[in-house]
Amino acid sequence: MCGIVGYVGPRDSQAILLAGLARLEYRGYDSAGIAVIDADGDLELRKRAGKLAVLRDDLQAHPMPDGTTGIGHTRWATHGGPTDANAHPHLADDDKLAVIHNGIVENYADLKAGLLSDGYTFLSETDTEVAAVLLGHEYRANGGDLEGAFRTTVSRLEGAFTLLALHEDHPGLVVGARRNSPLVIGLGEGENFLGSDVAAFVEHTRNALAIGQDQIVAITPAAVTVTDFDGDPVEVEPFEVTWDAAAAEKGGWSSFMAKEVSEEPEAVANTIRGRIRDGAVAIPELDGLDDLFRDITRIIVIAAGTAAYAGMVGKYALEQWARIPVDVELAHEFHYRDPVIGPNTLVVSISQSGETMDTLMAVKYAREKGARTLSICNTQGATIPRESDAIVYTHAGPEVAVASTKAFVAQITAQYLLALHIAAVRGTLPANEIADSLRELEAIPAKIQHILDTEQERIEQFAHWMADTRSVLFLGRHVGYPIALEGALKLKEISYIHAEGFAAGELKHGPIALIEPGQPVFVIVPSPREAALLHSKVISNIREIHARGARVIAVAEEGDAAVLPISDEVLHVPIAGPIFQALLTVVPLHIFAMGLATAKGLDVDQPRNLAKSVTVE
Ligand code: F6R
Repeated sequence: MCGIVGYVGPRDSQAILLAGLARLEYRGYDSAGIAVIDADGDLELRKRAGKLAVLRDDLQAHPMPDGTTGIGHTRWATHGGPTDANAHPHLADDDKLAVIHNGIVENYADLKAGLLSDGYTFLSETDTEVAAVLLGHEYRANGGDLEGAFRTTVSRLEGAFTLLALHEDHPGLVVGARRNSPLVIGLGEGENFLGSDVAAFVEHTRNALAIGQDQIVAITPAAVTVTDFDGDPVEVEPFEVTWDAAAAEKGGWSSFMAKEVSEEPEAVANTIRGRIRDGAVAIPELDGLDDLFRDITRIIVIAAGTAAYAGMVGKYALEQWARIPVDVELAHEFHYRDPVIGPNTLVVSISQSGETMDTLMAVKYAREKGARTLSICNTQGATIPRESDAIVYTHAGPEVAVASTKAFVAQITAQYLLALHIAAVRGTLPANEIADSLRELEAIPAKIQHILDTEQERIEQFAHWMADTRSVLFLGRHVGYPIALEGALKLKEISYIHAEGFAAGELKHGPIALIEPGQPVFVIVPSPREAALLHSKVISNIREIHARGARVIAVAEEGDAAVLPISDEVLHVPIAGPIFQALLTVVPLHIFAMGLATAKGLDVDQPRNLAKSVTVE
């Protein structure tokens, strides 16, 4: 939440900052602002409530002097509404100092009280302005050492923050700090960048440095220095960004979500690529973990939202293939009870962004309790993998639309690989069955592509007809249950329609009371050929709702004749084994949610009230 970008170098910074913010806008779009030190050495500020486009238009209509040192911010509001005054950057030290922030300063009220009694005044309701004023105060107190003042200031802040600051007395310098919020450095030729993630600067450089927890960075055109909060130098890890700027562009697509749904086959294929050798899983990141996989008695998967639904799907695979008990926990619930975990527990976190605060806190907590941690993550240099003992990256490529789609199928794929690997290590599945499952997994991208090629248009048309619907239910069994939850989440998230997902077997225990004539119900139908028993149970569930007048939309295997007489609409998927079917049945649901939101004229990439990277608890 909140996107941050910083630049120092020979070029004028406004265009660079605005382009960086455009790539980070998925992190929040309540307001946007930039501050630059202009050619005369004066600090220039422009900030506006609303999306980045409002700021852009304003700068076009009323140009602001440019300069070669700058910071920019796109906001997801926490403290104070989305107004011009609350927009970042915030100024201090007689408007010579500008600060931007991502996170929450938890002790801001105490700090503010102290500063008020010292005679300082505030223009906004934000916690960020408190940090800015405190920094200005420390800067005056230490005689103008910006880095020193920054160190003193961040040491007094509690909570989670990425902070960037610049001061007009120090052109060519941007300082930054991070605690529990992301910040990465981009290394250019005679210029350097800071960003909430590499998207902020990937069009200029793919050479990056990941800053660790509680570290401070100072960038000038010629140098980057990183220290801890005590001022001692620290080593930082270089990495090369594996995707290029074009991957994070919309291209010819109407939305990022449309592009990302179209990339679902590729997300699965890329997550598998190079990780299967001679009919076995070969993931170098898992080398050396065999003893751990043999010793664990339990796996707890922690995640939030869509990633948690991916975890629920993964549970079926891990339990069936690796024969380990698996619990899937919402990260925010896991952390604040007293879970029973220890050295024989493997905590697997799943996160597209690798920055979700709830998940990060749960991972840290699990480590404190002695559990081993493995992160399934889509974002290089992110915090959660850095805080984990092991990492399996999903290779879905940058996901920009707020609603997660291609990352979801990649997260499931990574778990299937993990489950088959652990099964091999523990000897719970014969080698030939592992090889068969891997072959089936390798066939999935083409099957997803087949759905996109043959069903997408029809599903979009169907979604269009349903644009006035006020409530949609989703039912599923086995892996179809988390897919039903995912279908419901996606619909409410981007179309603002009430939607609920249920386990189909649970229907008769209460939710069936919701069924009235015309109620649309999506039902995820297992394969009649691969999962005959499950299939017959779901057919019975469809009969129960059909008899009560529900409008049944079945997501069913091609050629499934049993669904035809009891469904109003059938969305087809190719044949797949019971576990693999999850990777197919979700695709029509993603298309449907996108189609319906589009039909309602909504912005599918930036749904209201949301941000992609949820870096507050
Ligand atoms: C829904 C969605 C969210 C995220 C959740 C976790 O479409 O995108 O529910 O899945 O906020 O985010 P990550 O995976 O970044 O930890």
